[in-house]
Amino acid sequence: MADGQILIAGAGGFVGTRMCRAASAARVPFRAFDSSPERLKVIEAMGGEICYGDITSYEKVRDAVKGVRTVIHLVAAHEHMPLDVHERITLGGVRNMLRACAEQRVKRLLFVSSIKAGRDYRGFYSTTKRKAEGILRQADLNLTIFRPALLYGPGEVRLRKIGEIIRVMS
Ligand SMILES: NC(=O)c1ccc[n+]([C@@H]2O[C@H](COP(=O)([O-])OP(=O)(O)OC[C@H]3O[C@@H](n4cnc5c(N)ncnc54)[C@H](OP(=O)(O)O)[C@@H]3O)[C@@H](O)[C@H]2O)c1
Repeated sequence: MADGQILIAGAGGFVGTRMCRAASAARVPFRAFDSSPERLKVIEAMGGEICYGDITSYEKVRDAVKGVRTVIHLVAAHEHMPLDVHERITLGGVRNMLRACAEQRVKRLLFVSSIKAGRDYRGFYSTTKRKAEGILRQADLNLTIFRPALLYGPGEVRLRKIGEIIRVMS
């Protein structure tokens, strides 16, 4: 295990894949955790250590965290999902990650939340992101929370769809 290795949880997604690419380019050793084996294969080719698992499984999260110094937590339920999925993946995932970090003495955690975690937003996605932030803030951690709005770039689907709608309507 490389000293100073980072764990990217949710590495197979839009943001995670780019983080892995950036880590690889900067020669920062990283471990990529995700529930999609196909996407992890792409990351393996970037030189990352891959770790397949579901964030709702504490054992899998504990194994993923072993030996790392910093965690970047990206896993969250998608906006359109029902409440129980948000609770299982977003909240349950954060609880598992916190427990594993405490057990493995990982002190640095970066959490990608959302602008929608702000008090003005409603809905399951917003309320669970807000709760997840609250849980993290109570932990003994060097914590950074990001609250992005819409992230876009090559490969992003939602913004492209909006562009297509505007083109069709104009
Ligand atoms: N993209 C944006 O515009 C935006 C804006 C604001 C905030 N954010 C936040 O930023 C973070 C990253 O966003 P993103 O766009 O990269 O999301 P994403 O593309 O959905 O990536 C999340 C990754 O986590 C995986 N995952 C889902 N459930 C899992 C589970 N139970 N166990 C392990 N892995 C699991 C996903 O796999 P599957 O796809 O197979 O489920 C996916 O590979 C999220 O927390 C999101 O809420 C994103």
